[in-house]
Amino acid sequence: MSTADSGRSRPSIDRRTLLATGAAGLATMALPRRARAQGRVEISFASASFFGNETFGDLVNSFNESQDRVLVRWLELPPPSSSTEVYQGLVQQLARRNGTPDVFSQDVIWIAGFAAAGWALPLDEFISDTTGYFDGTLAACKWDGKLTALPWFMDTGMLYYRQDLLDKAGAQVPQTWAEMAALGKAAQDAGDAEFGYLWQGKQAEVLVCDAVEAIASNNGAILADDGRSSRIAEPEAVAAIQFLHDSIGSISPRDVLSWDEEPSRQPFTAGRGMFLRNWSYVWPIAQDPNVSEVVGKIGAGPLPHFDGGRSASCLGGYQLGMNANTKNRDAAWEFMSWVSAPEQQKRVALNFGLGPSRPALFDDAELNEKQPFMATLRPVFTGATARPVTPEYAKVTLALQSGISKALVSGNIEAEMATLSQELDRIVG
Ligand code: GLC
Repeated sequence: MSTADSGRSRPSIDRRTLLATGAAGLATMALPRRARAQGRVEISFASASFFGNETFGDLVNSFNESQDRVLVRWLELPPPSSSTEVYQGLVQQLARRNGTPDVFSQDVIWIAGFAAAGWALPLDEFISDTTGYFDGTLAACKWDGKLTALPWFMDTGMLYYRQDLLDKAGAQVPQTWAEMAALGKAAQDAGDAEFGYLWQGKQAEVLVCDAVEAIASNNGAILADDGRSSRIAEPEAVAAIQFLHDSIGSISPRDVLSWDEEPSRQPFTAGRGMFLRNWSYVWPIAQDPNVSEVVGKIGAGPLPHFDGGRSASCLGGYQLGMNANTKNRDAAWEFMSWVSAPEQQKRVALNFGLGPSRPALFDDAELNEKQPFMATLRPVFTGATARPVTPEYAKVTLALQSGISKALVSGNIEAEMATLSQELDRIVG
């Protein structure tokens, strides 16, 4: 089994261990002997453990070997699908204000909260020229007018489809959810695919992502533009959640209610699904003949939308933060700027299937040859829809995860969305 396959399905560190030990107690990468030179400034880097053909620990090792001034220790957090656990691990550390970890990677949804808490150092004094980065990513890295995160990589939701089965049916890639549902059902009825549509309905962060995509593609939103009131009980949002609910037992198995990323990816790369909503990390796995039954049979494109709406893709990805309490600012910056440089972003794109935050890389010949979907999906990467941007996001997401999950399980969509809406108003109002 390749690392890509074992990746996100690897058992994560359980919550109790995490809470008991904090990030510093988690497994750290062994440092290669060559990198153990005396006289270096030692710093730590905490990051969720993304998976691909290598690990972020390998990146850290390369940095350690590339120079002799700074030595980075990697504090490995759980995989990004265990978003709440990764968040808790970071909060535990940052709240101690003791400077550990010096550098951390943060899901785009935590930037506002970490900045508002005073845990992420504004980076404006370190960086004068930000022209190499996407404007949208830079905007997502700012809080209160200050750049408190350095862009690293972008993750966006997309539709994976079986091109061979579309060809067989003489069909085009579906543009609307209704078209997708009809094609998925037809593939099931014809015995070509066991599952029409695979997605993530587990009470977890990824459910919020799937919901944002459905709601935004129906001209709805979770919060009003000013972020101070809920829109989740409006008809557009209710209809979107209703669609997700109705897919269960029809084009989606009941199991989607307990699936996050990997459990939904596995049946697709095993050749059992017609359509899949997932992140870009799936592409390299689907092209690996050791773990995939669908090599050369799939395509990836923008997610469908409702009639009168537009395709929407949830903005994800991790950006780099400097601990406001680090005692090693220059060393921290040296590592951060190295890891966000074009060469390392390209390596992350090639080996992890994660989207660069630098537009120039989308024109890179090697990247286009090895990950052709990235160039074609540039508009998806650049036009993604953000989850609510608020320092209260930790509360907002728990309310969303619970409320949407209740709606999907009970089928009482309107009533559950009304209750959820009141709760959101209480949190952000
Ligand atoms: C991916 C995204 C991240 C999101 C998570 C949810 O890792 O990059 O933004 O929160 O999935 O599972």
